[in-house]
Amino acid sequence: MIRKIGVLTSGGDSPGMNAAIRAVTRCALGNGIEVYGIEDGYRGLIEGRMRQFSKTNVSDILSRGGTILGSARLPEFKDRDVQLKACEILKEKEIDAIVVIGGDGSYRGAKALTDLGINCIGLPGTIDNDIAGTDQTIGFDTALNTVVDAVDKLRDTSSSHHRCSVVEVMGNHCGDLAVYSGLSCGAEIVVTPETGYDEEDILDRLRYLDNTGKSHAIVIICEKICDVEALARKISASTGFSGRSTVLGHIQRGGSPTPNDRVLASRMGEKAVDLLVQGVGGHCVGIKENKIVSFPIDEALAMPKTSRKQLYRLFDRLV
Ligand code: ADP
Ligand code: F6P
Repeated sequence: MIRKIGVLTSGGDSPGMNAAIRAVTRCALGNGIEVYGIEDGYRGLIEGRMRQFSKTNVSDILSRGGTILGSARLPEFKDRDVQLKACEILKEKEIDAIVVIGGDGSYRGAKALTDLGINCIGLPGTIDNDIAGTDQTIGFDTALNTVVDAVDKLRDTSSSHHRCSVVEVMGNHCGDLAVYSGLSCGAEIVVTPETGYDEEDILDRLRYLDNTGKSHAIVIICEKICDVEALARKISASTGFSGRSTVLGHIQRGGSPTPNDRVLASRMGEKAVDLLVQGVGGHCVGIKENKIVSFPIDEALAMPKTSRKQLYRLFDRLV
């Protein structure tokens, strides 16, 4: 039987993390379990920085972006000695289990702690949507809305000036934010790790679009693929459009979570507590075909990510 659990947020923050913290806290309290909010991810854990949460400590956070707990990256958490220190602190404070809200790196930390005797459950908190084992991560929908809002605005000004807007979106090495926003905004070109990058092909396509009389063009590119400013200069130099680049950056990580993210985070938070109450550890929670599911973390990390081929095919049919 568990009496005390901890909750932490780790890695890049994402909108909806607070909704998950609230759901974990309230579901646990409802089961008579004490809850401790651990500050700044694994860093706060090894420094013993945590505070007890009552129901009201998580009031008014459902609609807030970011994470009230703070998040951090602690590369040293890969070391067994550091993990052992975390276990020592948890044992000292009599915390039986932890809910870790973060991405796949954070999941690895959660698995390591479980192997050392502290049951952990991972919730997928990242805007990248790059976790296999779930159709959607907490924060992806909000980030997508932010990107769509920005690209719609860029389209207005681009069409006034016969410009091509090159928009870099986040996603780490996952093209989901790019392809979903490309479809949502009717972009002319989407470039992701899945499509590959062929500069000549992009320039040829833009020349063709210019010749067909298009007033503007939008190219959405996943980060870490090319220098978007250099590409925009090439577009100005060798197509009829003048190129402008926009790196959306961390704006994509902020903002009030969408209702979809709030509900997803709440459902996942509930599932995490249910699993811990059943004595399960080393699992992560996902949503598959609108059902909340869980898998062993190792299994989820080894799964291939759901193919987006149909989305790319649809994009190609619609441009
Ligand atoms: P995300 O969780 O969003 O993928 P990171 O990859 O930066 O973000 O991981 C977040 C944190 O999780 C890291 O700073 C580190 O503390 C911990 N972590 C990452 N990889 C491992 C690992 N292999 N073993 C233990 N902990 C890890
Ligand atoms: O994983 C979330 C994410 O925002 C990625 O999309 C991006 O590559 C990275 O984190 C940026 O990290 P940082 O917070 O260190 O700038």
